[in-house]
Amino acid sequence: MASDPSISIESVLQEQRVFEPSPGFVKTSQISSFTRYQEMVDSAKTDPNKFWGEAALKELHWFKSFEKVLDWSNPPFAKWFVGGKTNISFNCLDRHLDGPTADKTALIWEGEPGDQKKYTYRELHSEVCKVANALKSLGITRGDLVALYMPMVPEAAIAMLACARIGAPHSVVFGGFSSEALRDRLVDGNAKAVITADGGFRKDKIISLKTAVDNALSEGSCPSVKSVLVVQRTGEKVQMNAERDVWWHEIIKKQTSECPAEQLDSEDTLFVLYTSGSTGKPKGVVHTTAGYNLWAHLTFKWIFDIRDDDIYWCTADVGWITGHSYIVYGPLSNGATTVMYEGVPRPSNPGAFWDVIQKYKISIFYTAPTAIRAFMKSGREIPDQFDLSSLRLLGTVGEPINPEAWVWYREVIGGSNCPIVDTWWQTETGGVMISPLPGATPTKPGSATLPLPGIDADVVDSNGNSVSTNEGGYLVIKSPWPGMMRTVHKNAKRFRESYWEYLKPVDGNYIYFAGDGARRDEDGYFWVMGRVDDVINVSGHRLGTMEIESALVSHELVSEAAVVGRPDDLKGESIVAFVTLKSGIDPDEGSIDQLRAHVSREIGPIAKPDEIKFTESLPKTRSGKIMRRILRALASGKEISGDTSTLEDKSVLDNLRS
Ligand code: PRX
Repeated sequence: MASDPSISIESVLQEQRVFEPSPGFVKTSQISSFTRYQEMVDSAKTDPNKFWGEAALKELHWFKSFEKVLDWSNPPFAKWFVGGKTNISFNCLDRHLDGPTADKTALIWEGEPGDQKKYTYRELHSEVCKVANALKSLGITRGDLVALYMPMVPEAAIAMLACARIGAPHSVVFGGFSSEALRDRLVDGNAKAVITADGGFRKDKIISLKTAVDNALSEGSCPSVKSVLVVQRTGEKVQMNAERDVWWHEIIKKQTSECPAEQLDSEDTLFVLYTSGSTGKPKGVVHTTAGYNLWAHLTFKWIFDIRDDDIYWCTADVGWITGHSYIVYGPLSNGATTVMYEGVPRPSNPGAFWDVIQKYKISIFYTAPTAIRAFMKSGREIPDQFDLSSLRLLGTVGEPINPEAWVWYREVIGGSNCPIVDTWWQTETGGVMISPLPGATPTKPGSATLPLPGIDADVVDSNGNSVSTNEGGYLVIKSPWPGMMRTVHKNAKRFRESYWEYLKPVDGNYIYFAGDGARRDEDGYFWVMGRVDDVINVSGHRLGTMEIESALVSHELVSEAAVVGRPDDLKGESIVAFVTLKSGIDPDEGSIDQLRAHVSREIGPIAKPDEIKFTESLPKTRSGKIMRRILRALASGKEISGDTSTLEDKSVLDNLRS
């Protein structure tokens, strides 16, 4: 159930500052004026099929050209570039091998302990081909789903490109998820193989990934998984199951470095990526080959204004969509140099990010607001010790950025010299939807500014009517776009209902509801206010409150649980759980730790509640629905506003307050 988006509007900051693109930046940028941006918007609006069709022909390689740009005859199920044959692995690698890009650095990697690797496009192509051949030798064929549960090592990107090369959809599972969460995704995806590593380094600790895979596969729980390919990363001793497990380095040795890219249909599934929704288990978001490729390619090119000599770094993990689109596919499709870093800032190395920027002369840096707020808190003394003068463009993604953090980022990290692109998008959208174009769009701190050309975004009420200027409403997309998700894996009904039928426009058209609330100001700029459904965003990580609740109630002590987000200065939101224990059980000192550890085991450490409040009962309506609005107010210490007359038992409120 979406909450009323006008509620969160109270928190809108009256931000008035406007930053024009600097003349120095404009001089060399590809889309170098607001007029040019508007021309692109107009041509996409006038004839979308022509706009997307021409872009697809110009930007991608086609084994066979498409017959139709868009088939929207069965909304909301779209087909893009119908009849075309292409391959994203070819577009990211092979097509760069004919010219000077062949020997350009494609991927720079630095591990947490400081080890490094670099691959040219030619070298990356050869590695990807070997892994693609290895997968084939394990019996993986077109259409078989391969799960990846990897640390941030180059092999993760190589494995994705190898799967794409042979038409085996990948399903990357973030290495911070627990074996339980991994198992759910393996079962739902019917995965045929898992690619993992012995372990990964994270904050000076070793995460035992292979052991988690073993646990996920134990007791025959995922019979579809026939092989596990294991990268040696940490050198930890791991159990190898002779019938199932193979070392990556051993199998690769036996492969040739040529593996022609499969000629895939435009609509062949490229990957499934699980993300949290308001209800039930995480949804497998399905993206397909050509449309996603075009969207990752075009958005990367437009938003990062990429030049041949740029060294680009996105700090996301490949386990999230940002890693898919803006570490791997977008940059490589454009022939750019992309940086991958295994580490994060940590007490032993608080300047880790600035060190990477200085060392590799990063020119474009893309990170999350949570990281920026943490840097702000620890003070400018740390970044000031590094030479960050190579930077020319900064980006943010994953959550709303508060104007203070935006301005700090601009001044302290960007030396007041770099435009900032605040990019709004989602796993479902495949790539960025609303963002400044750095050489064209005047920016306002805290606003993602304007939709990209071809993106028909709006803010509407529950009938689908546009709301007035500065009024809060639901953020929607009113027309299909190439990078849109195609369906929920094995659940077309959920796709239709949760995204396209949630709001019911009076004209009967399908509009895509993103789950976010927003407002548009007098210049048409979008100010995204955050989720209005039961999804919370903790440090840029998206979590369903119901998933955390199910994890809690699966504990033997727990009778009922309700989870809400509480605004948090650093993390955006923190997780607060209201828990009722089974009758006769009193919470003791260890109960909180026990429950937090349980959630960590069920989902992963990112889902651990920050606070657990025990209560005798939860506020419910007479029909038994938990009134989360009340819990949200209580969690953040606010007055309970609005109607409470539907509460079944008013005394619950007094108990909760006390
Ligand atoms: O609430 C929005 C927030 O992140 C959600 C999407 O999460 P996910 O699918 O995990 O993808 C994250 C990376 C794209 C959105 O529904 N969000 C993302 N970017 C922004 C944002 N909120 C405000 N401003 C942004 N720039």
